[in-house]
Amino acid sequence: MVSGGGTNLQAIFDKIESGYLSNCRIVTVVSSNEKAYALKRARKHNIPAICIPRKDYDSVIDYDKALTNHLKSYDVDLVVLAGFMSILGEEFITAFENKIINIHPSLIPSFCGKGYYGLKPHIAALEYGVKVTGATVHFVDKGTDTGPIILQKPVYVNQDDTPETLQKRVMEEAEWEILPKAIKLISENRVKIADRKVYID
Ligand code: GRF
Repeated sequence: MVSGGGTNLQAIFDKIESGYLSNCRIVTVVSSNEKAYALKRARKHNIPAICIPRKDYDSVIDYDKALTNHLKSYDVDLVVLAGFMSILGEEFITAFENKIINIHPSLIPSFCGKGYYGLKPHIAALEYGVKVTGATVHFVDKGTDTGPIILQKPVYVNQDDTPETLQKRVMEEAEWEILPKAIKLISENRVKIADRKVYID
């Protein structure tokens, strides 16, 4: 599920094509934004890609139902939020309990939660003056960026970083690596959750 450029989606396509994600396939791509370049990336790969915008639905409940029905019709095993910007409600999260993962561009629990999207986590990291930031892949629960952490990768902050240069490095050095890696581990049934902690076999 996407809303923007889809570089994380591209990283997944690349890893499927290289054979790294040998037992995975993307069955559908859903965008909340019809202008998302991610939709074009999906169509280039002949993957059914659909826009389901929040504004077309009166309530989060109705929106959740539309998303759930679409994904259930493809019988998905895992829902990957790769830059999906719309808020998901309880109905959706319950329908795919422990089957939704998200990539966030900071080391959770820093610079995450409500409002920390786009460049915001990087602006906040630079304002705080941290020397290390990074990315996190986590399961999605009912909170915002609060679910069990699957993988994290640190990225050093440079003294002359801008939010844009930091965002780019976090994507290149961390996000595009740990999102496919988490998908691989889950596809190999090596990820277990116990007492909100993730254990990898
Ligand atoms: C990434 O920074 C991701 O961490 C965040 O949204 C951005 C999506 O970028 N959740 P892209 O659409 O994958 O290029």
